[in-house]
Amino acid sequence: MGISLSGRSFLTLLDFTPDEIRYLLGLADEFKRMKRTGTPHRYLEGKQIVLLFEKTSTRTRCSFEVGAKDLGMGVTFLDSGSSQMGKKESLADTAKVLGRMFDGIEYRGYKQSVVEDLAKYSGIPVWNGLTDDFHPTQMLADILTVQEEFHDVRGRKLTFFGDSRNNVANSLMVVCSKLGMRFCACGPKELWPEESLIEKCRKIAAETGAELEFTDDPSLGAKDCDVLYTDIWLSMGEPDELWAKRIELLQKYQVNKELIAQAKPTAIFMHCLPAFHDRNTTVGERIYQTFGLEAMEVTDDVFLGPQARQFDQAENRMHTIKAVMYATLK
Ligand code: CP
Ligand code: NVA
Repeated sequence: MGISLSGRSFLTLLDFTPDEIRYLLGLADEFKRMKRTGTPHRYLEGKQIVLLFEKTSTRTRCSFEVGAKDLGMGVTFLDSGSSQMGKKESLADTAKVLGRMFDGIEYRGYKQSVVEDLAKYSGIPVWNGLTDDFHPTQMLADILTVQEEFHDVRGRKLTFFGDSRNNVANSLMVVCSKLGMRFCACGPKELWPEESLIEKCRKIAAETGAELEFTDDPSLGAKDCDVLYTDIWLSMGEPDELWAKRIELLQKYQVNKELIAQAKPTAIFMHCLPAFHDRNTTVGERIYQTFGLEAMEVTDDVFLGPQARQFDQAENRMHTIKAVMYATLK
């Protein structure tokens, strides 16, 4: 039976079957080929989408904008300062208005309940561009990248080093469970994923053959590992005062040469970006001045080394986001 996601929202990968996820990856691969060969694909000509960003973004915003324009659509961008949402107009009222004007809504912000309510009240497909809990469009790009490296992702061990209960780590646990991979959360126990999400993933894993591991030992995380994945130690929306505590907790989970040497020789390094791998950012420099760290979650040599795939991931954001918009709007 053919798969159709027409009219569906894309809020978390928990809502999608393994076959539906593989269908989106297949579409993304096709869109990547079309982009590379310069084959026009204005399949959604005449449609209009709106992008709501309550947090900053480079990759996600550009992927939605370029992807939508390649598909022939019009795009409106609203950041938190430039709409009435939440200040003079309720979320429900805003969603109803946007649903009358647009064909799809992208939302990046804080609570997962906001993106769910937008979908509930707008009546049109809503795509989660990152919330405090999940980052599902990132996952499609990440798995496409793993697939490009290893072909069949099943049985591959992906270890997330660091703040293992942030939006990216949560979403990796979900997608690895759905696709029969080995997911390992490697970090201090107090930053492991919430038990309720682990339970959901264990149930999925029982059906797909996926395996879930949790450890506070970086060597165990790296052992037999195919993909070493890390993310920023303090996510958007978390207070700056937490830096000192996070650095103390997470320093031993930094992805560096010594750690990567303990993984399989064929292992790759992945990062959703942005990354603190040097002092060439205002935050990176401030952290160096305050704590003396040249890099945080990944060292510069790994980031610039032969195993690094973060810029392939970044490119794949666009191809996969295009697949999501096409599949849900066509
Ligand atoms: N990875 C990612 O979502 O990047 P942006 O914050 O730049 O969108
Ligand atoms: N965990 C990070 C991901 C950024 C793409 C954050 O939420 O800031």
